[in-house]
Amino acid sequence: MTIKQIEKLKTPKFIQQIESTLKPLEFLERCAKNYGELFFTNSFGSLETLVVSHPQDLQKLFNPTNKILNAPGAANEIFKPQLGENSLIVQDGERHQKQRKLIMPPFHGEQMVNYGQQICEITQQVIQHLNPGETFIARHLSEEITMTIILKVVFGIDEGLKFEKLKNLMTTWLGLTSSPLSASILLLPSLQKDLGVWSPWGKYLRLRQQIDQILMTEILERRQQVQSSRFDILSLLIEARYENGETMSNDELRDNLLTLLNAGHETTATAIAWALYWIHQQPKVYQKLLHELQNLNTPDPIKIAQLPYLTAICQETLRIYPVVLFTFPRITLRSVNLRGYEVASGTYVTPCIYLTHRREDLYPQPDKFQPERFINRKYSSYEFWPFGGGSRQCLGQTFALFEMKLILATILLNHQLKLEEKVPVTPARRGFLMAPQGGVKMSLVS
Ligand code: HEM
Repeated sequence: MTIKQIEKLKTPKFIQQIESTLKPLEFLERCAKNYGELFFTNSFGSLETLVVSHPQDLQKLFNPTNKILNAPGAANEIFKPQLGENSLIVQDGERHQKQRKLIMPPFHGEQMVNYGQQICEITQQVIQHLNPGETFIARHLSEEITMTIILKVVFGIDEGLKFEKLKNLMTTWLGLTSSPLSASILLLPSLQKDLGVWSPWGKYLRLRQQIDQILMTEILERRQQVQSSRFDILSLLIEARYENGETMSNDELRDNLLTLLNAGHETTATAIAWALYWIHQQPKVYQKLLHELQNLNTPDPIKIAQLPYLTAICQETLRIYPVVLFTFPRITLRSVNLRGYEVASGTYVTPCIYLTHRREDLYPQPDKFQPERFINRKYSSYEFWPFGGGSRQCLGQTFALFEMKLILATILLNHQLKLEEKVPVTPARRGFLMAPQGGVKMSLVS
């Protein structure tokens, strides 16, 4: 069999980096058109990496029995100043697997029942701050909701001064890196210079220290309390034990709380803002969803989460503009043949969610929002995979989908919103994410 050569992008490295930072979707589409389904790029920094998106390639690479890919923690080093050196995201190998095993259970199964009611109540409380006729930005509303959920459901911190202080600090801290330009302090270590309280990095570090202090005090206090009556995720993590009987250290707990905040807050908020946009942009989608929701005799969280059309809307939202375009980087542990193309051992790979989700053969008219495609066809986890795959697959995916569905259902069942955008909303980079440009302007009708 002849071995085919994978092409490298011909444009100079710095142009690739600028294009992929400023116009990532156009960049990816052009690459796929000119170079096909596998290509090497330098758009992620100095390293050359292979972009993969064909479902067959993903299946071969991610299948754990093939043992082809490693998800090296070292490739995520840039997150260390943000999340700390004990974060799950910068671990690899056995330590990574052990931490995942410990952190995962509170995000699944019966634990979810405990959070459902709380998520609906938080949504109601936050939206009640809006007055009828008031215009608002959907992303701000959803961020307020998901931040409150992280603080109450994940950290177990309720109302009061501590809650307000932590919420303000975290919002300011995350806001420091939310534009493409300001996010460069996270992406480029050369900009990470502490030149005092007014310098961007100085400000970033000082805020992180203040947040650290509050979290550490909270962890120490909670270790002294009897946990059995508490269901928040921090309480469950304090109790959880590794196989050798040890618990997580205080530093591990703190860094992983920050990891859950960073990985879970803006991602879910962005997805909800997109969903609100699509639902209100297409009256037929809105009517069909409202009908499904109103047909529920008792809108209890578990029943809401099982609704087929609501599920399809959430899936199509995450398909059309995946909030995260790529997974974390991987590296091949051995050479592998991908549909006739030979990939050497030690190759850096960046699986691309966006390009899979835009394939015409899987999703006819891929730029159209059509939730029905998820009703009419069952997609495999290599065809629809907004949460990544393999050993680093999103740890919060069940929780994120549960949150999305409950928040959308609570809003739609209790309020009427109106889209206030005159032209179609397009995606724009927001730090590491792709979010609706301008955040989606809406108003509260009632
Ligand atoms: C719509 C919302 C979300 C999206 C689209 C999303 C997407 C992703 C993606 C693409 C990855 C990388 C997977 C890979 O490399 O294969 C990831 C990792 C991760 N996500 Fe999410 N995520 C969302 C919400 C959440 C939530 C709510 C949490 C927790 C509260 C969370 C926690 C994590 C963590 C901890 C990782 C790293 C896992 C590891 O290193 O083993 N995510 N997510």
